[in-house]
Amino acid sequence: MRRIDEAVALGADKLSHAGIEAPRREARLLLAHVLNADVGHLIGHGEAPVGNGDWAGYLERLERRAQREPLSRILGHREFWGLPFRLGSDTLDPRPDSETIVEAVLKRFPERDQPLRILDLGTGSGCLLISILVERPRATGVGIDRSFAATRVAAGNAVHLGVAERSLFCVAIWMEALAGAFDVVVANPPYVRTDELAGLAPEVAEHEPRLALDGGKDGLNCYRAIAPDLPSTLASGGLAFVEHGEGQADAVEALLRQAGLSRFERLADLTGRERCLAAGR
Ligand SMILES: C[S@@+](CC[C@H](N)C(=O)[O-])C[C@H]1O[C@@H](n2cnc3c(N)ncnc32)[C@H](O)[C@@H]1O
Repeated sequence: MRRIDEAVALGADKLSHAGIEAPRREARLLLAHVLNADVGHLIGHGEAPVGNGDWAGYLERLERRAQREPLSRILGHREFWGLPFRLGSDTLDPRPDSETIVEAVLKRFPERDQPLRILDLGTGSGCLLISILVERPRATGVGIDRSFAATRVAAGNAVHLGVAERSLFCVAIWMEALAGAFDVVVANPPYVRTDELAGLAPEVAEHEPRLALDGGKDGLNCYRAIAPDLPSTLASGGLAFVEHGEGQADAVEALLRQAGLSRFERLADLTGRERCLAAGR
């Protein structure tokens, strides 16, 4: 029978040959997942045996990772805003960059007990809406997605993260089926240019849902679709927070301005890149 430290060494070697950047760390995470243990346990018990069934499960997951399936998809969850979000094949794997939106909303609506009404357009795993609801315990929210499968994953995340009673997830095309005003609208729409999709890293190009990525010929289709309905969806004093790709800030701002939004602010991620626009009516 193999020992834990041997299994990690073999896995790290295999992942390193496949071009994975942090092979030892990922091998440990995969083995910990199979053994239903935490990584600290593995480090402290290197001599412990790995049973045959677990060994087979570990090899299978190593192979998937070596084929560049994203780690979060193999593990079935991803940490976002410090919370564990479950993923499905129809949800985008949430990016740390998108935490910029959560941070911006909390900063502009700092009162913890404010009964905010929140709309999340293209909710995916529900990561934006649910993170804000966790931080603002009297807020309520609606998450919209065109993908039924994504809304099911988001609703499941709302249950296990304790905000199900304050959230609703609906299948719709952006705001087409909506009436009502919201204090906060967050949106992280697909914004990759169609001709750029094939050139993305295999983890993204082959494993992320196309519906979550494809922004059309110039990457701006979804902003064109969303912008006209944004002003009427915002309550008085409300703010919209819209994520965009690198280099898209001017074009997205122009579309939102043309639709009647004002009071623009550009928000940068931790590395200083502009990634989000905030705007009001
Ligand atoms: C970039 S992902 C964002 C997911 C999640 N909000 C996040 O930040 O990780 C965009 C989401 O928009 C959804 N979507 C794409 N087209 C849509 C449409 N016409 N109406 C509603 N949702 C749409 C996709 O299914 C996907 O879940």
